[in-house]
This record gives sequence, structure tokens and C-alpha cells, in this order.
Amino acid sequence: MKASGRKYQIAVIGGDGIGPDVVQEALKVLTATGTPFDSKRFDISGERYLRDGETLSNTTVHELRKFDAILFGAIGTPEVPPSILERGIILKLRFDLDLYINMRPVKGVAPGQTKGHEIVVIRENTEGSYVGEGGVLRRGTDYEVATQGSVNTAFGVARCVRYAFELAASRPRRHLTLVHKTNILQYSGDLWQRIFDQVAVEFPTVTTAYFHVDAACIYFVNDPHRFDVIVTDNLFGDIITDLGASISGGIGRAASANLNPMRSNPSLFEPVHGSAPDIAGKGIADPTAAILSAALMIDFLGENEAATRITAACQEPAFGSTKEIGDTIASRVSRS
Ligand code: IPM
Ligand code: MN
Repeated sequence: MKASGRKYQIAVIGGDGIGPDVVQEALKVLTATGTPFDSKRFDISGERYLRDGETLSNTTVHELRKFDAILFGAIGTPEVPPSILERGIILKLRFDLDLYINMRPVKGVAPGQTKGHEIVVIRENTEGSYVGEGGVLRRGTDYEVATQGSVNTAFGVARCVRYAFELAASRPRRHLTLVHKTNILQYSGDLWQRIFDQVAVEFPTVTTAYFHVDAACIYFVNDPHRFDVIVTDNLFGDIITDLGASISGGIGRAASANLNPMRSNPSLFEPVHGSAPDIAGKGIADPTAAILSAALMIDFLGENEAATRITAACQEPAFGSTKEIGDTIASRVSRS
């Protein structure tokens, strides 16, 4: 029981496709840990949008603020054109709740490596190209002009970089790598590099490195051991964490935490994967990423022992259908 004697209040957004199924297994495993919680489901999805035109209202965001955390599955249906659900739901949640850190563990044994890697990517989650700066002129004509900017604020970069340094300082290796593309992005890259160097002075125990994002991709595959904590912008973080998943046992095991470290709003926990409409309803999706996201959630809430039990239970492989994998992990958690 929480120190206050209260149960954790968890908002659950299953979403579309395999989302509701994997979240179901995550809740099963959470129950098996004995962590006291109540959950409330929210009908937010592409399916809902097709039904009544609603993505995510301000009223719903307001209601979500009352919860301790949000467990999120995946959103997306092929019938809805790109960007409507992304901007209307997941980005709205990240921006409105000021979830400025996207923490993505990258842990496993990369193909061709004998030793495992244990990396954490800290992706800035409220700025960059995700802000939607830009516009279009003469759309659909031969003279169309499209611009898509990237917004980087000193405040936004500094709070993200500082979080990454704090995390690196707390880990055994104490090593932080900035990943950007300073050789070509002369304005935003320069801002990131200067702030990184300034904050580094506050953390004399942390060693630092810098790689351009393209080179970082090579190292992810060929030499992931050189990384400990990585800090990077929103779009680079999106891309390298998919690569990170693929060197760590696949996208079915990649978890993420969208954090408001100030705890002024609930944080949101979600698998890195999407709704996978091609396998939806078949009962074959791997729920491990959602289960590991639930572990990140209770760890952030302070239930560190229960979180460790879940991550340990996900180490050994589990086989079968979505439900069978959930059952196997849940039974390991309750036995341990
Ligand atoms: C992710 C996803 C999202 C992103 C999409 C769905 C908006 O790819 O969480 O990595 O680009 O951040
Ligand atoms: Mn992504």
C-alpha cells in the first residue's frame, strides 16, 4: 500500500489494434505484483475518431490530470490519414501534460555481440520538429512550398540535458553522449552543444561524448557498448530508439516512459511499437513492451521492488499467444 494508504489511480488508454490487448496483459502483471491500484479505461482511439470525430478533448485531458499515471497502448488505424491521431492524441498528451522527457531503455544483446548493452536514451519530448512549425503554400500545384521547422528553446534543451546528466551521474558508468547533427544543423545543433557543455560543468563525475546521429546509428549496430546514457532531440530520439529496439530483441520488447519529472502532471507509459493493424485481433502480439512500460510506471511511482520483479520476469523468454506470454510473466512475478 502507498504510504498514504491510497491505491494508485491509473488511467488506461488501450487505443487501437494490438494496443488494448497488450495493455490488458500489462495490467494482469501489475496485479500479480500486489501493487495496489485502481484503473479507469478511457475510450480514446482512432476507432473512436471514426465513430464520432473526437480525438482527445481538453475536458478529457483535464480529467486525466487527476490520475497518478497513464498506461497507454497504441493508437492508429489505417483508415485515418497520417498526423490526425498522432497530433490529436499522443502529441497532445505529451505537450499538454508537459511530458518533456521520453526515456527509452535500450537493453539486450545486439546481433553479433557476445556481451549485452544497457543504454538509456533520453529523448526531448516537447519540442523540435514535433511542434508542427511550418506551413504549406499552393498545395497540390507544381509550385507547392512546404516548410517544417524545428523549435529548440534554451529552456527546453537545458531541462532535458540536465535530466540526462542527473541520470548518468546515478549510473555505474556515468557516461553521457549527446547525439545530434551539429555539422549541418548549425543553429539548433549549436544550441544543444553549448547547453550540453554548460551543464556538463555541473557534473564533473560524468564523462561525455558527442556523435552525429548518422555515426551513432553505426555504433548502435557495431559497438553499442560505447554508450551508457544518450541525450538527443525529439526526431533523432524517435529514429534511434527504433534502431535501439531492433538491436535489443525487437520492437516487441521496447518500453518507454513519457515523464514529467516535476510531477506536476501524471506521466505516461507506453510501448515504443504502434497498433500493428496487420496482426491486430490475432492474439499473437508480444505484450512484453507494454509489460515493461508498466514496470517503468510503477518504478516512477516509487514501487521500485515490484518494478524490478517485473523486469526480471521479462528477462527469460516467454512463448505463446499474447495472453499466454502475459500469464507466464504474471506467474513469474507472483512467485518471485
Ligand atoms: C513513438 C511514435 C510516435 C513518435 C508517433 C506515433 C507520433 O513513433 O512514440 O516513437 O513519433 O513519437
Ligand atoms: Mn517512433
